[in-house]
Amino acid sequence: MKLTDVEQGMLDGAEGAAVQKAMDLLIRYGEALGAERLVETNNVCGTFVAAGPMIREFASKGNDAIFSEFNLDSTEHVAMPPVKAYTCHLIMGIDSEHPEMRQVSEDAARVQTEGEKFFGAKGINMLSTCTPYQVGNVPVMGEHCAWMESSAVIYCNSVLGARTNTEGRESTGAASITGRIPYFGLHIPENRHATHLVDVRVSVDDMMDWGLLGYAIGEMVEEDIPVFRGLESQPSLIKLKHFGAAAASSGGVEMYHMPSVTPETRSEEGALGGSAPRASWIYGPQERRAAYEKLNSTASSADVDFIMLGCPHNSIEQVWQVARLLEGRRISPNTSLWVFTPRALKEVADRSGYTDVIKAAGGHVLSDTCPAISRIMPKGTRVVATDSAKQAHYLPAITGVQAWFGSVADCVEAAVAGRWTGGLR
Ligand code: F3S
Repeated sequence: MKLTDVEQGMLDGAEGAAVQKAMDLLIRYGEALGAERLVETNNVCGTFVAAGPMIREFASKGNDAIFSEFNLDSTEHVAMPPVKAYTCHLIMGIDSEHPEMRQVSEDAARVQTEGEKFFGAKGINMLSTCTPYQVGNVPVMGEHCAWMESSAVIYCNSVLGARTNTEGRESTGAASITGRIPYFGLHIPENRHATHLVDVRVSVDDMMDWGLLGYAIGEMVEEDIPVFRGLESQPSLIKLKHFGAAAASSGGVEMYHMPSVTPETRSEEGALGGSAPRASWIYGPQERRAAYEKLNSTASSADVDFIMLGCPHNSIEQVWQVARLLEGRRISPNTSLWVFTPRALKEVADRSGYTDVIKAAGGHVLSDTCPAISRIMPKGTRVVATDSAKQAHYLPAITGVQAWFGSVADCVEAAVAGRWTGGLR
């Protein structure tokens, strides 16, 4: 790999042991993927604070040890320097301020709080959400980034036109203290052209429709890049967020083009870069129904224990929508309703009165994590309802629960009645 003088200096140890290890990691990683050089980045989204089983083993060893082992892949423990690139922490193990989530030991909550302080002091922003683009981290078109979290990666590439591969904890850790990431994959303009054409022949309008489309196309194109034909309605941030999260769950989609919606192309031909599509797919009523049935394939009991909203984390508009649907109502004593939103937006929800409305109905507004990451749900949960294709895809596989997928209104009705009555309209 070709290195600049500054990069060679980092590799030779001019900026200390941690930076040296980070450069070594990036070079090994980049060479394994055929990268010929590194590229500067000033936008890193990764995970740093300890969570889960890591806590038990490393709680006593301290955060330098956690950074060395998990962010630099080094059994030799080195002191973490301040970050060089703008960096944010994506998601926590628990919402330590919320008693509903205190199903873990006090030790886990303490280690998390100490980790926040430690990594915060190194310059890492504790955004603590899978949707950093909802709370101020909005890279511009063409900007080279190093992001983890599949739903954020697809949003970053497609909706913002910034450039990132799906990075891991180690590469984002190394990028944070070097300001570099290997130049391969979606950093290279020619690799960003569409390879597959999806002809949409059914109306795609509300959020549930966008989740179904995303889930279906992820299965169709897997890790390739689709361009869409036939989409008529204008999607919003929340619809594209749900669409991308679903596509990255059923497949490994990291980027798509929607002419006149996503910024890198205004035409189908432009998206394809002058080439013919390698494959074409039709998304019609049959494909829509198949996606719906697959997402609901684990559910058999209509008695719903737990309603999970906010995967990816809800925008403030979505929290407001839940509050409006719940106003003056009361959820069933047999169900729990948790709404997840970034902590920064929870503050807005509190000040706008939405949290109080949801609480008055018997629900909770949480932040920092989600059931798929924390593995925490209300005790005794067997049947979940969610408006998220991603959560409906992962929760049954990870935790063994049944999952219903439907609209936000279907989910709120299930919370109030304690029974699932949703369906495909
Ligand atoms: Fe976010 Fe958890 Fe969904 S991290 S994208 S809410 S699975």
